[in-house]
Amino acid sequence: MQSIEARNLSAARAYALLVGIVVPRPIAWITSIDSQGRVNAAPFSCYTFVCNKPPMIAVNIGRRGGEEKDTERNLRATGSFVVNVVTEDLVAPMHESSREYPAGASEPELLSLELVPSQRVRPPRIARSPIALECVLERIIELGQAPSALVIGEVVVFHIANELLTDGRIDVRRFRPLARLGGPLYARLGEIITMPSVGTPGPRTPR
Ligand SMILES: Cc1cc2nc3c(=O)[nH]c(=O)nc-3n(C[C@H](O)[C@H](O)[C@H](O)COP(=O)(O)O)c2cc1C
Repeated sequence: MQSIEARNLSAARAYALLVGIVVPRPIAWITSIDSQGRVNAAPFSCYTFVCNKPPMIAVNIGRRGGEEKDTERNLRATGSFVVNVVTEDLVAPMHESSREYPAGASEPELLSLELVPSQRVRPPRIARSPIALECVLERIIELGQAPSALVIGEVVVFHIANELLTDGRIDVRRFRPLARLGGPLYARLGEIITMPSVGTPGPRTPR
């Protein structure tokens, strides 16, 4: 067992540990638009949900050489975005869209990704994603000395493919979400394990 004092770690070394420890991570493929209306798409796996009334999700966006990434700049400028969920079949275009294109370059256009207009926000969603969340920016919290932007978005519209929604629940077996591990490594869902509910007390074992 090695015990590492976190205060002695550089940002890069802490990152290397964290991306291997917090796994598997779902991937938010975010579409946003710049002030001239050009559509940007980029993946972010530092992502989870943080509230259910109203529904809210959070994504952490790092800086690139001290500069805001296009997604963060767009969210600050326009106040909305779409989280497109990444399934196994979307691994190639999603991965490719993380390339450092110059600001203003449109990844959906370069990667021939079909877009569908959103209902309540300006950025469109990616047609091939079977689930997409239209979000309005709730707040951005700056964290750390590196620093990074914890973006919190309120979900205003859920788009869910019919075949994935049964009785108000997502059918995870059909969903086939892709997860990110560290660096170039991704994972599919493995065996799904079912455990008995612990919500209501069961019969007690007599002493
Ligand atoms: C699967 C995957 C997950 C990623 N997750 C994050 C993340 O959580 N935070 C982050 O800042 N960058 C993350 N990146 C890197 C960004 O996608 C990359 O910096 C991208 O160029 C940003 O694009 P933009 O400048 O158009 O916003 C990830 C890349 C991949 C491939």
